[in-house]
Amino acid sequence: MHKSYFIETFGCQMNVADSELVAGLLEKEGFSATEKIEQADAVFVNTCAIREHAEEKVHSQLGRYYKLKQEKPSMIIGVLGCMAQHLQDDILESRPYVDLVLGPDSYRRLPGLIRSRMESSNSKVDTQLSRFEVYDGMFPSRNEGINAWISIMRGCDKFCTFCIVPFTRGRERSRSVDSIVSEARNAAEQGFPEITLLGQNVNSFSNDGDNFAALLEAVARVDGIRRIRYTSPHPQDMTEDVLNVMATYDNICNYVHLPLQAGSNRILKRMNRTYSREHFLKLADTIRNTLPNVGISTDIIVGFPGETDSEFNKTMEVMNAIKFDSAFTFKYSSRPGTKAAEFTDHVPAEVMQDRLEKIMALQKQHTFERNLEQVGKVEQVLVEKPSKRSSEKWAGRTDANKWVIFNCGNAKIKDMVPVEIIEARGISLHGKLLKAKAAA
Ligand code: 5AD
Ligand code: SF4
Repeated sequence: MHKSYFIETFGCQMNVADSELVAGLLEKEGFSATEKIEQADAVFVNTCAIREHAEEKVHSQLGRYYKLKQEKPSMIIGVLGCMAQHLQDDILESRPYVDLVLGPDSYRRLPGLIRSRMESSNSKVDTQLSRFEVYDGMFPSRNEGINAWISIMRGCDKFCTFCIVPFTRGRERSRSVDSIVSEARNAAEQGFPEITLLGQNVNSFSNDGDNFAALLEAVARVDGIRRIRYTSPHPQDMTEDVLNVMATYDNICNYVHLPLQAGSNRILKRMNRTYSREHFLKLADTIRNTLPNVGISTDIIVGFPGETDSEFNKTMEVMNAIKFDSAFTFKYSSRPGTKAAEFTDHVPAEVMQDRLEKIMALQKQHTFERNLEQVGKVEQVLVEKPSKRSSEKWAGRTDANKWVIFNCGNAKIKDMVPVEIIEARGISLHGKLLKAKAAA
């Protein structure tokens, strides 16, 4: 019997990679992907639990799936990922039409669970976390495109007090360098010009005596990979060895995502971030000195419990000192089960909103200033897709992860081309293709 599946993915890149893994498993079972959700025999939503808003989006999506299932009662509905792990059986209490609930370490058992669900009328919940599961030896069904996501480690042992991830993804564990290198080689053979190494804490990578610097170097030596990125490192574990490997290999992108979270030492301590603002400032300096023209982005949370106006100002001070190239900014969201959820000194919603708007405006200005520094330079840009605004222009990223819009010329998607940056506008760069076509 021909069966089809549809997967919708929320959350981080790790979830995108996990959905590709699940797609690979389903295809091995004889399922094929469909773009039309209403026709699918099995619909999965890979969920995120990082903020309340992420969970709300999934709830409203599940309401939509319920309507589809009323039209097609044989449809299997599966909830995967972090919210499945977080809420477990509670999902079935509020949504009894859900057939499968699987946490991030349970995907290997998905085919068996689908079969047993088809044979019985009971929903199945599998949220067993594992100390060992790294999904080695599995074949993700990758979405076509520029970038291949490769998960190198799973879980997190840091226990930042605001974060649900250590609870939803369990303990830290790393894959072997050999299996990662062989997956990178496969991705290169399949024609992906870029790979991104993924983990909740990539620089805690540790397997059989190999650390993250050793892994990066091994991957950089794989033939055929034009660009290597990684996300996310933890500021406490960033070593000079990693930066030196980045400086040595041209195919490792000149870009670091370095989550700051907050600029006040008292708040950092309360967040259990394990570094001080001084350490962070020095690290950003070292990165900029070791890797000229590097792009640095960050994550910032405003309104963590107890954050005063002057502590919030310290966050802006650090932003002003570093001038990040870009930033993902969030209002604190209390996650049941975390340490911070027990704190009672909440910052009022309107204060949080005001702080968020302030840092967004400040970051916009910094992004513009950093982008202005690029004007006049010639950057190697990987052609990724047509520009949204004009079909006669390409959009691609520089080594430092900045989007550039430029004339198509004879360049094709996946070409690496030299582009002269001529203008910084809003948060993007505009450029001019220098040669009709660069040597591949
Ligand atoms: N509330 C708001 N933002 C959060 N993040 C993680 N947990 C929370 C939370 N409870 C943010 C952090 C992290 C990014 C992925 O999401 O900034 O780096
Ligand atoms: Fe969301 Fe974190 Fe889970 Fe990724 S790891 S899906 S960001 S909760």
